[in-house]
Amino acid sequence: MTRHEFVRQLIPGLTAAPGTCGTGSAPVNIALAKYWGKRDSELNLPRNSSLSVALPSLGTRTRVILIDGPQDRVTLNGQPAPEGFTRRLSAWLDLFRPAGAAFEVETENSVPTAAGLASSASGFAALARALDDLFDWQLDARTLSMLARIGSGSASRSLFDGFAVWHRGERDDGLDSWAEPLPQRWPALRIGLVEVDVTQKPVGSTAGMTRTVDTCPLYDAWPDFAERCVRDLTAAIEARDMEKLGEIAEHNALTMHATMIATRPPVLYWIPESVAAMQRVWALRQAGTGVWFTMDAGPNLKLLFEADARPAVVAAFPDLRIIAPFAP
Ligand code: DP6
Repeated sequence: MTRHEFVRQLIPGLTAAPGTCGTGSAPVNIALAKYWGKRDSELNLPRNSSLSVALPSLGTRTRVILIDGPQDRVTLNGQPAPEGFTRRLSAWLDLFRPAGAAFEVETENSVPTAAGLASSASGFAALARALDDLFDWQLDARTLSMLARIGSGSASRSLFDGFAVWHRGERDDGLDSWAEPLPQRWPALRIGLVEVDVTQKPVGSTAGMTRTVDTCPLYDAWPDFAERCVRDLTAAIEARDMEKLGEIAEHNALTMHATMIATRPPVLYWIPESVAAMQRVWALRQAGTGVWFTMDAGPNLKLLFEADARPAVVAAFPDLRIIAPFAP
């Protein structure tokens, strides 16, 4: 099945007059059990389920207008968007393009683009919502998560606040690979952003995971391990057990990075400052502070801790940007 066929069975239609506008917003999410590896790149189906937490104060706000014309016009934070960004957006918008029409897209991101802070996740989730608004589909969140998934896998999880699980699904047609929220809240949970480098990463996650699946001899162990992490994290969240959550999330991230490093040619996202930050986290833990980290396809760390550990964590990471995912 092509992605065109997949999308057509999910949406009621593409009828809207030129000039019709839609808006949508969505939060960034941080995976605690990572998505790494596709089983179908046409429908963007993952080899493993993943679990994330949304950062409600960071994300994307998007406005889309249907226009006559040959070409999409895309702006990012008020400037014409970089060519690669526009190309990726337009390729996804092709799935929803009425004949002869184009889209004007205004995107406001409150996260550095492509710095391992998952701006593509909030971007495609916000855009899916904006199209839902523009075409007046009134789709449910599960269906929107499947549309966003085609744009970027991690976007499937950005339709929700709080914790979300993206189920890998079993079917070849991809209709059971969607994300849903977990009911638990965790008011004391904190995420600290350690931004060691916010420039564009050298290898994007799509290319990085493809190379890992194709060449890493360790990869075979990953899908079952990741599936187990999702189950154990769900239990840790139900029990509100910080130590268990931190241990599983950190181990999951390091195992993913081990598969990246063992590809040919290697994909190493770490820079010296990343390793120094990891060692600082381990030293804090050694000294009794409950803090763990996770990392995505980039050099930055995201620290995981509870509110009572904040003073000790900030003493070691003075520039830390702290987010409370379940702030009232
Ligand atoms: C390491 O969702 O960016 O952040 O589906 O190819 O767009 P594509 O990949 P993407 O990969 C995210 C990888 C990750 C882990 C995660 O967010 O689960």
